[in-house]
Amino acid sequence: MSANDPHISGAAAERRPMRRDSNTGRLAVLDQTKLPHSVEWMELSSEADAARAIVDMHVRGAPLIGAVAAAGLALALDAEAGDAALDAAVARLRATRPTAVNLAWALERVSEHVRPLQPAERAAAAHALADRICDEEGARCAAIGAHGVALIAGAAEAKRGAGPVHVLTHCNAGWLATFDYGTALAPVYKASEAGIDVHVWVDETRPLDQGSRLTAWELAQAGVPHTVIVDNAGGHLMQHGQVDLCIVGSDRTTAHGDVANKIGTYLKALAAHDNGVPFYAALPTSTIDWSMGDGVAEIPIEERAPEEVRVVHGVDAGGARGALDRFAAATAVSNLAFDVTPARYVTGLITEHGVFDASPEGLASLRDVHAASEG
Ligand code: MRU
Repeated sequence: MSANDPHISGAAAERRPMRRDSNTGRLAVLDQTKLPHSVEWMELSSEADAARAIVDMHVRGAPLIGAVAAAGLALALDAEAGDAALDAAVARLRATRPTAVNLAWALERVSEHVRPLQPAERAAAAHALADRICDEEGARCAAIGAHGVALIAGAAEAKRGAGPVHVLTHCNAGWLATFDYGTALAPVYKASEAGIDVHVWVDETRPLDQGSRLTAWELAQAGVPHTVIVDNAGGHLMQHGQVDLCIVGSDRTTAHGDVANKIGTYLKALAAHDNGVPFYAALPTSTIDWSMGDGVAEIPIEERAPEEVRVVHGVDAGGARGALDRFAAATAVSNLAFDVTPARYVTGLITEHGVFDASPEGLASLRDVHAASEG
């Protein structure tokens, strides 16, 4: 993977964390491990590059890792495009991260699309479909925002100008995790565009700080007022009437409405329930696993390296990057990356087709609307 590339660095302005140059075919992703201290792009020129970018979380967020996996499969087909090579690349890329279903969804989609083709035609078709997946996810995010903004507008009306609408979010479900508007942040961006006074409580999101590093950076770029809080502050704020609604993203939502998202999401949902604060998950239909019902029992939860908890990364006063051990190397560490919020704590699912109940009935009606939209 190569270092920063000025030719593609303008893409940050387009709110797209992945870009393929239509003339050269070169593929690059925004390196999220470097944010917020520097904006650097990294080129992906092989399936192995794409897999490494996903595993090491240079790219992250459910829809984005699906899109990068799709592009990685296209790169694999550039090198070898027979049936066996196709199946092996799908299996390797699918194994990169287990929880977000978008990864398997995108790989299946590309693989089903190219399998009937001659091997010589497969790579180009896969690249074109990977590009289309990025555009489609961007359109889904815009639609999520268009539906979700009504919730923020409603809260603003109820407050009758008594301060901004306070939205609490966990992790990063903005454009860095997908395209254009993001999912959980899409209603916030749309509200801000509509002139609604909105303020975001940004959960820090230990251990990799997707909230304080990424969500705060995105919101600052867009001029949306926000405040970073430690992960355990949300309950206190809710008890004191400082949160009007919670909106989070999702890595996998089941056909019963259970929502897997970044570890800590469940505790926010419990606090929201106890305090009568509406708790929404915003997600595109590519994040729904129609084959699963009970998310707590069935959704695979990724466990990541203990070093992510033990070591903090940052820059010093002179701007030099560094890493610091926070506690004894011998101390046992558990680093579970996701949890599941049962549907009973989810007020609604904000999707590209509208807001649906987080229940088997709600999901069934969403499935019908989605199928009708696909023709
Ligand atoms: O481990 P990450 O950073 O990939 O986790 C991401 C999240 O949990 C997001 O909230 C989720 O993918 C929604 S992305 C629109």
